[in-house]
Amino acid sequence: MNTPDLQVTFCGKLFRNPLVLASGILGTQPELLARVAVAGAGAVTTKSLSPHPRAGHPNPSVLKWGPGFINAVGLQNPGVEAGVRLLEETRRLLEAQAPEVHLIASIFAETVEGFARVAERLTAARPDFIEVNVSCPNVAHELGRPFAADPEDAAAVTRAVKNATDLPVIVKLSPNVTDIAVVAQAVEAAGADAIAAINTVAGMVIDVRARRPVLANEEGGLSGPAIKPIAVHAIYEIYRKVSVPILGIGGVTCGEDAIELMMAGATLVGVGSAAYWHGPEMMGILAGQMRAFLRAEGIARVCEVIGAAHRTEEAW
Ligand SMILES: Cc1cc2nc3c(=O)[nH]c(=O)nc-3n(C[C@H](O)[C@H](O)[C@H](O)COP(=O)(O)O)c2cc1C
Repeated sequence: MNTPDLQVTFCGKLFRNPLVLASGILGTQPELLARVAVAGAGAVTTKSLSPHPRAGHPNPSVLKWGPGFINAVGLQNPGVEAGVRLLEETRRLLEAQAPEVHLIASIFAETVEGFARVAERLTAARPDFIEVNVSCPNVAHELGRPFAADPEDAAAVTRAVKNATDLPVIVKLSPNVTDIAVVAQAVEAAGADAIAAINTVAGMVIDVRARRPVLANEEGGLSGPAIKPIAVHAIYEIYRKVSVPILGIGGVTCGEDAIELMMAGATLVGVGSAAYWHGPEMMGILAGQMRAFLRAEGIARVCEVIGAAHRTEEAW
């Protein structure tokens, strides 16, 4: 059998493979984003950029915990004006070093109008996609309920961003809701070109000797292997209810994990904690493991596994 083909098409754009560096992971420096691209990613995502610089939460803000991480980085970022320069520099490095790799600009704001302003400003730097982070769980103390907690709020942000940019818009949803598929349907109806799921799962870890939460922010977001079944279930439910493509994210640490998210319905697969822990080279390792799985299973093209878990025996 020839080398299995990892190419997929997402929102009409060809990706050399489905692997995407997730937002917030190695995404604040152009050089790091370029390293992840050269290491084998199909796309890289910036840290979420907001209207103004944000200092984020005090340390400790990221902790390795059991089968994953808990973080409350608090959307620390240099703000949209520095973000434009970051995107331009990243684009320049990608063109020189990995021109086929797509660039996703993640955005965040405290208001619907703020989301639109950041999207409009960043569009000038021509990333390939805008990813709308309405789902960060660790700023609720400061900013209240995330937009992704309510289908109408998530739809309002989606509409405003769609009106502010001509780029394809991916809306990133939260697992911290009763029915994520209902939120997905609302943002699809509001014009989202794709859905990313999931952001981190709200959680807390307590140091029993100190008798207090370990994070300075107290609550945080869980990521890594601990959340993979939650991600698989969310993707599976969304795939059943919407027709736009899905960027599945959550708990991927090996090639078979990536395949599992694709079988649930993802076209692209985001990698966060595993890249944070193992570094940029993780992307090339995952791509190799995906190819090995496909070869062993006699599958010629990875796109054949998208949504495979939904098909009946007869459909195979
Ligand atoms: C340290 C850290 C920072 C993160 N920052 C962001 C962010 O700025 N914007 C965002 O949309 N998601 C952010 N995330 C969430 C990840 O993009 C991803 O959705 C989540 O970690 C689940 O994927 P994983 O299990 O592969 O890590 C962050 C996650 C971590 C661990």
